[in-house]
Amino acid sequence: MYNINRDTIVQDPNPGLRTKCEPVTFPLSQEDINTMEDMLKYVRDSRDEELAEKYNLQPANGIAAPQIGILKQMTVIVIDQEVGEDEYVQVEYALINPRIISHSKKQSALEYGEGCLSIQQVHEGLVPRHWRIKVHAYDYLQKKEVIIEAKDLLSIVMQHEIDHLNGILFYDHINKENPWAHDSSLKIIEY
Ligand code: NI
Repeated sequence: MYNINRDTIVQDPNPGLRTKCEPVTFPLSQEDINTMEDMLKYVRDSRDEELAEKYNLQPANGIAAPQIGILKQMTVIVIDQEVGEDEYVQVEYALINPRIISHSKKQSALEYGEGCLSIQQVHEGLVPRHWRIKVHAYDYLQKKEVIIEAKDLLSIVMQHEIDHLNGILFYDHINKENPWAHDSSLKIIEY
């Protein structure tokens, strides 16, 4: 059973996507646990072609609670992280109350821009983000507070999801006059 699918995900423009989400309190309520489990199941299974097709799941690297109508600081991220040449491992984070505590001055962006489960309209352009970040959060999978050092794709996905918790959408960052413009200091991430 899926509580989340293509038809239930909150779509832009919905004011819930523009709201600053509330911090989660501990110990976690059963409701909060259910939300984390639903989001984990969604993101994990959306990456499986067969399940995605069968259960109407749009493939994703992450989801944030406001995208399912819950205005709390919770997000799940699942990506294939490059660990060597053409070598990848799947990494998962289920983060509660995540905060960026430091970041590089250097910026990066995905080569072809970003997409979002809540945005069906195409918004072309580079989305500049911090290349590296340090995030403090409670990790629901590890059941403890963690500090995560992220760079490249993981850093970009984390910033995209943390933005959701602050009512920010990826196209807010696109240069309106010149969407693909960038200087040589921007690291372009192939994806
Ligand atoms: Ni999104």
